[in-house]
Amino acid sequence: MSTSSDTDRDSALALADLRARVLARPLPRHVAIIMDGNGRWAAQRGLPRTEGHRAGSESMKAVTRAARRLGVEALTVYAFSSQNWLRPPGEVTALMDLLVEYIQGERAEVLDNGIRLRAIGDLTRLPRQVRTPLEELCLASAGGRGMALTLALSYGGREEILAATRALVESAARGEIRASDIDESRFSRALWTRELPDPDLVIRTSGERRLSNFLLWQIAYAELFITDILWPDFREADLLAAIADFQLRDRRFGKVAAK
Ligand code: FPP
Repeated sequence: MSTSSDTDRDSALALADLRARVLARPLPRHVAIIMDGNGRWAAQRGLPRTEGHRAGSESMKAVTRAARRLGVEALTVYAFSSQNWLRPPGEVTALMDLLVEYIQGERAEVLDNGIRLRAIGDLTRLPRQVRTPLEELCLASAGGRGMALTLALSYGGREEILAATRALVESAARGEIRASDIDESRFSRALWTRELPDPDLVIRTSGERRLSNFLLWQIAYAELFITDILWPDFREADLLAAIADFQLRDRRFGKVAAK
């Protein structure tokens, strides 16, 4: 008769085996995640939506740890979009409170593991009690040599493209650059993600097939992985499965396959 400890051991072995298989092939340098399905996860359990976000923040911590241990260079998570400000005020407040808890609770994980934490988006809209500890931890972790962890907060891809365009136009108006100097590389360097390579893999949970205004410029050639799993249920094994699937893709970047 098999016991629950047998089952635990079997799943630990299966996870170790999957991890080893993923590590045997090139990893995506940059993984970006649209963490969706918190509300549905809560509804399925008769819980308030905020409980779904709380469970979602546990997935965020687990997946960050897994990505770091694996050796992924950069992980970007869509934690709060520009459009999320339009959610009911109670939900927005709960998300902001969770963010503060996350920053305080993950401080040691970030600093002890050399994670470089950054936030992208219109951070001026974040309440002071979020912005101050967030900026402090970003600064404190800036010298880290491990994984770059980017939180997209109050973030929208179109907003980011507009901000970059304005900055370039202003620079041209000051005579620092000419219009003909604006190529893809210079434009990328004007974006909030300027320090990051473009994502290789975008994961979206909860089965929706949308980009939802996420990293629109940067994911031009990213591979998309959509799973029905709701974000609060997403764990290391699911990250590994997404990466294993990515490793089988034939990335051509618009060219023909190499012989
Ligand atoms: C989408 O689920 C998720 C969000 C809008 C926020 C993502 C937030 C977390 C993962 C929690 C951790 C975040 C912080 C800030 C620490 P949804 O609410 O749209 O789900 P639904 O589509 O099922 O309603």
